[in-house]
Amino acid sequence: MSGNADINNLLVTGGAGFIGANAIRHLLAAPGFKGRIVNLDKLTYAGNPLSLADIASKHSKRYVFVKADICSRKAVADVLDKHRIDAVCHFAAESHVDRSIARPSDFVRTNIVGTYNLLELCRERMDRIHVFHHVSTDEVFGSLGSSGYFTEETPYKPNSPYSASKASSDHLVRAYHATYGLPVTISNCSNNYGPYQFPEKLIPLMILNALEGKPLPVYGDGRNVRDWLYVRDHCAAIWTILRRGRRGETYNIGGRNEMQNIHVVRLICDLIDEMAGRLAGGSPRTELITFVKDRPGHDKRYAIDCSKIERELGWRPKESFETGIRKTVRWYLENREWVDNIRSGKYKAWIRSQYGTAS
Ligand code: NAD
Ligand code: DAU
Repeated sequence: MSGNADINNLLVTGGAGFIGANAIRHLLAAPGFKGRIVNLDKLTYAGNPLSLADIASKHSKRYVFVKADICSRKAVADVLDKHRIDAVCHFAAESHVDRSIARPSDFVRTNIVGTYNLLELCRERMDRIHVFHHVSTDEVFGSLGSSGYFTEETPYKPNSPYSASKASSDHLVRAYHATYGLPVTISNCSNNYGPYQFPEKLIPLMILNALEGKPLPVYGDGRNVRDWLYVRDHCAAIWTILRRGRRGETYNIGGRNEMQNIHVVRLICDLIDEMAGRLAGGSPRTELITFVKDRPGHDKRYAIDCSKIERELGWRPKESFETGIRKTVRWYLENREWVDNIRSGKYKAWIRSQYGTAS
């Protein structure tokens, strides 16, 4: 069954995070989407309403923000009913692998129990919900050797508490389709980069540290490989799946941009030297690279075979890594206010003043 029904009231969970905020921007500008978006987000450390401040004023009739936890039955039920939600795009999650290693409990709670709560409430409103899209990760497949690709048929073998919690949520979503007929779609995407990414992830952390002349901590030998996708290409893929994805199906999304971490970091250093000038004293920023202790259970290589979504739905990424990383570095250079708010913690005070407690 493919889903072509119009979406009138879309619930986006986690829309104040990196990909969610980009997706809301993408959707509100998409020619085929005339509906409203309700962004339900708990505003954890990773959620930042500043990422959507202009959207909230520009689209006041088509965009609503609700500060709530996806684990709360009452809060989610209220939103589903009050806003007559007919489609869900589920981004909300704890998303950082290193944090999951240090403290897995939030990952189990939000990623597994929160997803279950959403599914259950949507099952109770199946007459109205015509698509539940679950945004997931390629990390559920585990780690590749030096060859081969993850396909939609690759068995799950997650290695971190983060990827295990996402794998678990994927299974729940699939089961709600098989058991109850909930019209779900799932996407498993590779590493995203671009504007509004919280600077704990490799690319924004390296950009900001390099700009500030701080050490650039590369885990292990720096030869782990990730498959990079510009975030707006991911958003376009999600919009394509929401409209035309076959219900009950999974789609892999990737940029065919495999790269060793050390190569990514060197590229960022060179770009910043070019755009902002070298460090005081004339040293290149590559001198800031510092090899540090490896991440436990560090997956060696991810690489996505995205031929299914290309073949069936006609999606293709627009950005190469070279064009996407240039845009990204420029965005961080030109958006110091957003960066400074996050780095200084000022945005937490702002959230408190607007919405009560930060998380
Ligand atoms: P992020 O950490 O930047 O944002 C997560 C958002 O979810 C934040 O706004 C946070 O406040 C919100 N949130 C967390 N717990 C919540 C809760 N209990 N209730 C309501 N809101 C809550 O994450 P991201 O990088 O934007 O990732 C979004 C989704 O995409 C995640 O599901 C992630 O697993 C998936 N994904 C991410 C990538 C990537 O490279 N970043 C790649 C593939 C898939
Ligand atoms: O593959 C998709 C996944 O990509 C998403 O599901 C996750 O939500 C997202 O966080 C990302 O996970 P990674 O662990 O791959 O991303 P991260 O940016 O944390 O790390 C990318 C690579 O860089 C990884 O091999 C670890 C390494 N790294 C990371 C950091 C933060 C470093 O070498 N140094 C660092 O300081």
